[in-house]
Amino acid sequence: MSKKLIAPSVLAADFANLQRDIEMVNHSQADWFHIDVMDGVFVPNISFGMPVIKSMAKHTQKPLDVHLMIVNPDPYIQTFADLGADILTVHYEACTHLHRSLQAIKNAGMKAGVALNPHTPVIVLESIIKEVDLVCIMSVNPGFGGQSFIENTYEKVRQLSQLIQEKKAATKIEIDGGVTDVNIQKLVEAGADVLVAGSFVFSAENPTQTIANLDALANS
Ligand code: DX5
Ligand code: ZN
Repeated sequence: MSKKLIAPSVLAADFANLQRDIEMVNHSQADWFHIDVMDGVFVPNISFGMPVIKSMAKHTQKPLDVHLMIVNPDPYIQTFADLGADILTVHYEACTHLHRSLQAIKNAGMKAGVALNPHTPVIVLESIIKEVDLVCIMSVNPGFGGQSFIENTYEKVRQLSQLIQEKKAATKIEIDGGVTDVNIQKLVEAGADVLVAGSFVFSAENPTQTIANLDALANS
């Protein structure tokens, strides 16, 4: 069994103390930084863009997992590669030519991810799963941190896990939204590989310890 990865979502960090919060993640047992980019069109919120990521990347010492919640991501793929993204995830619902977008991400030297909104069934990835390095199953409606976890996610993780096995793909399954110490083990049992956690980590009294606890639960 490969290690289950913990990816704190910077969206829940204190933006006025971003370097402090990044150093906390650097020194924690976290595996990746999860970075949420929102455009106010695909989702009803705007987070941050390239200048902020550029500043963050000067301090981050772990892989950057960039989650694009934007329409028309193709023109920005090379820019995110230049900024230092290691994994670039686009939304299924935002890409008319998903195959082309994934190839462009890989050609730019990054791992290619696809995110699915809660209403999108995993079967839409049947024809493309072997091309996908990571599927991000949204366990809340994208746009905001701190929302409650949608229970149907477990079923989707099981279905996706089965599809990956059937197609002999090497795709990782990431869960994004409402992940806590209450649901993380059940998500891993269902087949999750990467667990994103925003508010649960950053609103904790001891975020470093909270990351360590999530890591222990996911890998127990
Ligand atoms: C939601 C973002 C998530 C968010 C998760 O649109 O994609 O990454 O930061 O935050 P929590 O863990 O607070 O639900
Ligand atoms: Zn995200």
